[in-house]
Amino acid sequence: MQTKTAIKLLVLLALVSLLLPRSLLYAHGDKRPMKKGILLVAFGTTVPEAQISFDNIEQSVKKGLPGVPVYWSYTSRIIIKKMAKEGKQLATPEEALAKMMRENFTHVAVQSLHTIPGAEFHGMLKNVHKFTGMDKGIKKVLVGYPLMATSEDVQRVAEAIIKVIPKERKKKEGVVLMGHGTHHPANVYYAALAYHLQKLDPNVFVGTVEGWPEIGDIKSDLKKRRIRKVYLIPFMSVAGDHARNDMAGPEEDSWKSILEKEGIKCVPVLKGTAEFREFVDIWVDHLRAAFSHFD
Ligand code: CO
Repeated sequence: MQTKTAIKLLVLLALVSLLLPRSLLYAHGDKRPMKKGILLVAFGTTVPEAQISFDNIEQSVKKGLPGVPVYWSYTSRIIIKKMAKEGKQLATPEEALAKMMRENFTHVAVQSLHTIPGAEFHGMLKNVHKFTGMDKGIKKVLVGYPLMATSEDVQRVAEAIIKVIPKERKKKEGVVLMGHGTHHPANVYYAALAYHLQKLDPNVFVGTVEGWPEIGDIKSDLKKRRIRKVYLIPFMSVAGDHARNDMAGPEEDSWKSILEKEGIKCVPVLKGTAEFREFVDIWVDHLRAAFSHFD
């Protein structure tokens, strides 16, 4: 009878322990103080002038979340390789998290500086979550949304675009934004953005280098509206290689050349979205939202 009761008690205890949150069970073994950090993740750039975008983001992040250490990492392996040849060692998100793990960070907010939740974002998401809950490692990794994730973000980005258009542009002149574009289903974000832009200003268009809409679509839209002059603006965090060559370069297949062949005057603006407070504020808000879950 007594052994039976003891067994019953043991079974009950085992069940209760299964129901207890893991943090409670292991807490006594991990006496490290809470150490919060931020890891910024960008695609990366090989253009030194474009570094201004990243410096601007870092300043805003430090202002938005004072006192929290900020680390950087990049998702483009091609860019990391190219920069290594120039003697600059850039970290991948995994390398940066391993370093933060060693430095005893317990809570890390990872902020994606990508524009859409596409292939780069989802690949990073998959990997960084693996750093949650490793033994002697980071207890919690949370990821902030890229620039456009929710419907509200798309609306906010459209409004930001209208705000950063050069003041000298006249209403009848066009504005053409160059997005990156992707084979990933998240390419639909560009169409969603175009919808909001059309509502705010019918002469503002968004196209992509590697997705849809293409420059051919934009060209026919401009001709339909009889637009004779456009401002070309990159819709990427940095004014890097795509902006300097594919958008504003002298090659025959650059957007500038394609439109000028149609008699449309082009004024390129070589500034990435991360150089404008209007966009950086959205990324910082996303980071703050992720970070607030640590409290
Ligand atoms: Co590209």
